[in-house]
Amino acid sequence: MHKDVERVLVSEKQIDDMLTRLGNQITKDYEGKELVVLSVLKGGFIFAADLVRKIDVPMQIDFIAASSYGNRTETSGIVQLKKDTDIDMAGKHLLIVEDIVDSGVTLSYLKKLFESRNAASVKICTAFDKPARRIAKELKIDYVGAVIEDEFVVGYGLDYAEKMRNMPELYVLKRSVYEQED
Ligand code: IMP
Ligand code: MG
Repeated sequence: MHKDVERVLVSEKQIDDMLTRLGNQITKDYEGKELVVLSVLKGGFIFAADLVRKIDVPMQIDFIAASSYGNRTETSGIVQLKKDTDIDMAGKHLLIVEDIVDSGVTLSYLKKLFESRNAASVKICTAFDKPARRIAKELKIDYVGAVIEDEFVVGYGLDYAEKMRNMPELYVLKRSVYEQED
């Protein structure tokens, strides 16, 4: 295991099971609708790539880049839009796919943004949910892969200082790695 990692939190097998469950549910819910899957970069790219292959309805795929983090482990509370979509979302059923919901600040911002652009519906799918630290209490998350404890996690798309995204499972980062920086 990577030297900065404490333990595996969600295994490859658990991730695979959650992808199948979510894919089946989303397939059922979007039958006959114009679906656009919107992957939130960078963290959501691996989950989105896996998830779309489990969804069996026609779809368009687009990407957005948003960030509320520097290289630190706590939210700044300010969302920066770094890349906007190419597809016009008006009248489309939008499914925003994220890696993790923590404070919920990023997704509340994105949800309001696309509602204001007249999407027919805006739903949220996240691989991991960390409800303990939610600030945006009103945020509804429609599809959740796994609920996790309040720990800083890496792998399966999630980074620490832009690294470790490529690791195949979800791991808890050793506290000593980020505490020495504060
Ligand atoms: P929120 O706006 O606080 O919900 O933050 C969401 C974003 O923060 C996620 O899309 C991740 O990029 C990042 N983030 C939140 N928690 C973690 C974590 O435990 N590890 C890595 N990135 C995280
Ligand atoms: Mg993210």
